[in-house]
Amino acid sequence: MGRFKHLIITIILIALSTVGLRLLFNVILALPIAASWEAGPIDVLFNVHYWMIAFLFSLIMVLMLYSVFVFRRKDGDETDGPHIHGNTRLEVSWTVIPTFVVIGFGVWGAITLNEITRPKEGEMTVNVTGKQWIWSFAYPEQDDIQSGELVLPVDRTIVLEMNAEDVIHSFWVPEFRVKQDLVPGRTTTLRITPTETGAYHLRCAEICGLNHTQMEAAVRVVSAEEFQAWVEEKSAAPAFAEMTPEERGAFWSGAEGFGCVACHTTDGTPGVGPTWQGLYQRQEQMTDGTTVTVDDEYIHTSIYDPNLQIVAGFNPNIMPQNYRDQFTAREQEIEAAEAIDLDIAADIIAYIKTLQ
Ligand code: CUA
Repeated sequence: MGRFKHLIITIILIALSTVGLRLLFNVILALPIAASWEAGPIDVLFNVHYWMIAFLFSLIMVLMLYSVFVFRRKDGDETDGPHIHGNTRLEVSWTVIPTFVVIGFGVWGAITLNEITRPKEGEMTVNVTGKQWIWSFAYPEQDDIQSGELVLPVDRTIVLEMNAEDVIHSFWVPEFRVKQDLVPGRTTTLRITPTETGAYHLRCAEICGLNHTQMEAAVRVVSAEEFQAWVEEKSAAPAFAEMTPEERGAFWSGAEGFGCVACHTTDGTPGVGPTWQGLYQRQEQMTDGTTVTVDDEYIHTSIYDPNLQIVAGFNPNIMPQNYRDQFTAREQEIEAAEAIDLDIAADIIAYIKTLQ
């Protein structure tokens, strides 16, 4: 009878502790809203795991603490405890049952992974490029428009074809739940079917250098009509020949260009590189002790050979040293399509001059 009482009490305590912990997880491990179809099966798995963790923790802790407090030695009791020599049935069951539970979770996880990554009907491809420390997006099915913001139509499966230009980055929008690394030299794929319109936040989830925490981009999920309107607006962007050098410079500096602003702020806030605000004609102290007045030639040299002169307080080997090649490739690509004689470095210098 005494044994039966202990059993009933511990079962009740384990049940209460399991439910209590599970509710606590909702507060301390709260997930953001689920905004994609893929989030559905993932959240089911999360939920079952949370129950499992709550139950196992309670099972072990309740039995241990119950024994510590209820079966502790009484004052004056000097006798030895009973000698217990194992329990084969118990030991076999606590080996076999968890083995099947773990295998079961493995199979369930594999089925879920297959379901959320397999090709779906009516997919739309978006190319994602990650580089230190900026994201850019291209829409090959929409006239190859470029964007620094990820705009997606709701209720349609999006295939993200992702490439990294330098180191490993990772695409992560918590509301979509899924996450995928971008690996240099290889194209990785991620499928997302947004189900809720709204504004979200893309973050890089792989430590990728100094400005990793700032490697973010806006994500907007809109209706099919709004998406179409956005595509038309983007496609109607003026030709480079119709833009002023300053306008082109601002474009090159952004996510659709070369992403300079990921490191060089334009409003004076500190960044990985010197801010562009008030840069032109500024006196800059170099690491070798010399002082330089910033002019066209200095900026030109700094873009093409960034390690030649480093401003005091900044680090060498952070800025890519191949902008001459990158600019030339882009210039030739555009000059083949438009009647224009481009000089991207000169455009950027013209833009910097406006930031006084
Ligand atoms: Cu890119 Cu962290």
